[in-house]
Amino acid sequence: MAAPPILVVGASRGIGAELARQYLAAGHQVHATVRDVAAPGELATADGDLVLHELDVRDRARASELAAELAGAELAVAIHNAGINRSESPAEMQEVNAAAPIRLVEALLEAGAIRRGGVVAIMTSQMGARQGRTERLGDYGESKAVLNDEFQRRAADWGRRNVIAVVVHPGWVRTDMGGDSAPLSVEESAAGMRTLFAGLTPTEHGRFWTWDGREHPW
Ligand SMILES: NC(=O)c1ccc[n+]([C@@H]2O[C@H](COP(=O)([O-])OP(=O)(O)OC[C@H]3O[C@@H](n4cnc5c(N)ncnc54)[C@H](OP(=O)(O)O)[C@@H]3O)[C@@H](O)[C@H]2O)c1
Repeated sequence: MAAPPILVVGASRGIGAELARQYLAAGHQVHATVRDVAAPGELATADGDLVLHELDVRDRARASELAAELAGAELAVAIHNAGINRSESPAEMQEVNAAAPIRLVEALLEAGAIRRGGVVAIMTSQMGARQGRTERLGDYGESKAVLNDEFQRRAADWGRRNVIAVVVHPGWVRTDMGGDSAPLSVEESAAGMRTLFAGLTPTEHGRFWTWDGREHPW
């Protein structure tokens, strides 16, 4: 049987690009979003069954259109990876990191883009965990904390739509965002998450996971 289709949102570079490459290498059809399909970044040289879609996750109209395009796609895994950790505006950080992923997942579920038992994974960060933290989170951490809050608020509803939805900390990874001193390579992080996604069961729905399959406190 052919490997089922996968969606990676925000796949031009970093962790998203590597997830797309690894799923392509494993024989999956990969629907990948980039902000400019004419300049798909690292995916310009990707081999395999790649379908590029244009999306700036802040663009609500385009996000709804994309969900409609993917209706019936039978996605086995849908990953919302796009994120930013630098912005002049905390509002923009909230929009990209917290509001956009929730909106797009809602639209994909509404459109019936994800197959029964499929996995929905939204990239969060350990910096968005509130538990046990005494210092202020900062704009980035706060945006991921709001993402986690919104995710938890919807988890029961999403579970009733027969998907397994999770938020994931990808580790501290050497990317433009993670910087050169991060301990993990994109290859290790993406491989760990692929194993995690492949093994998730319905009882593990609605939780916060790390790239290497450990449950993270909220
Ligand atoms: N690296 C780490 O150590 C680390 C740790 C914890 C969590 N994370 C999370 O993991 C995810 C990926 O991180 P990364 O390190 O791979 O980051 P990255 O190297 O900075 O790449 C970010 C990706 O998100 C896309 N993106 C940003 N804003 C977008 C928008 N408005 N619309 C569409 N795409 C947008 C970028 O596209 P463009 O190329 O078009 O800008 C790029 O493909 C993020 O959600 C991040 O918060 C990373």
